[in-house]
Amino acid sequence: MIGKNSLDSISDNGAYDDFCHFLTTVCGIVLGENKQYLVHSRLNKLMTDNDIASLTELVAYLKKYPDSKLCIAVIDAMTTNETSWFRDEYPYTFLAEKLLPEMCATRKDIRIWSAAASTGQEAYSISIIFSEFQKRHVGMMMPVKIIATDISNTVLSGAKEGAFDQMTLDRGMSSERIKNHFEPYENMWKLKHSIKQRIEFREFNLLGSYAALGKFDVIFCRNVLIYFSTETKKDILSRIAGVLNPRGYLIMGGSESIANYSDRFDVLRVKGGLVYQLKE
Ligand SMILES: C[S@@+](CC[C@H](N)C(=O)[O-])C[C@H]1O[C@@H](n2cnc3c(N)ncnc32)[C@H](O)[C@@H]1O
Repeated sequence: MIGKNSLDSISDNGAYDDFCHFLTTVCGIVLGENKQYLVHSRLNKLMTDNDIASLTELVAYLKKYPDSKLCIAVIDAMTTNETSWFRDEYPYTFLAEKLLPEMCATRKDIRIWSAAASTGQEAYSISIIFSEFQKRHVGMMMPVKIIATDISNTVLSGAKEGAFDQMTLDRGMSSERIKNHFEPYENMWKLKHSIKQRIEFREFNLLGSYAALGKFDVIFCRNVLIYFSTETKKDILSRIAGVLNPRGYLIMGGSESIANYSDRFDVLRVKGGLVYQLKE
């Protein structure tokens, strides 16, 4: 059922502006003007289910109870979790052909951060690349840790489970890789322990403190900064630079760039796209 009051209130510009401000403050997402329809389609059921009659009432509740289940559900509803396996290909080719051979020769261990991990395809794709590299270069492999974080616990709990249906696998996972890295599980496919064991999934807001994260050799921060303001992009890129090891790498989304947001990185043109390396 469409809550008529909710619909009316979402069209109220003052309430819409307050909601946008709240969302930007808690998770960085900037909705922009005239996205009332998006707010309506994503929140109407939640508001109806929780007997919230207007957007004004919702914002008042969220401000009063920022740790509430409803607040988490609103953030979940407003984030876009679109992802796929080996998305854009070039980051994974770069990892397999340049980064791993280079790091194996110079480092004792590797730490990678998948900073907006969604349902886990990015982190699992990275781990699969490691397994395949290890198979091709027996004895050349060092310990690898992948920290996969997201603001949404809902997507993370699916990611931790590591079980995917065929339709999800069809978005970038080859049948050869399914055979090698998955096992059948309740009409789905579950990643093998050998792939899962490298990954630690954690809830983490990119606007929060990075102090407890430690340092990384490679950071995948892909297809999330596009939702943020210029100021937030600059701030996050500066903090990402702060948690990279010397000459560490940053890999962003295929349509994203650091241009105008950070001068802390050298730009490397690789087959299929750009990657960024922390300046000396
Ligand atoms: C479009 S997905 C990108 C997934 C993956 N990186 C990729 O490129 O396929 C964006 C993810 O960013 C997460 N996200 C949005 N705002 C965030 C924030 N402030 N902190 C951490 N994660 C956030 C969302 O929950 C969502 O799962």
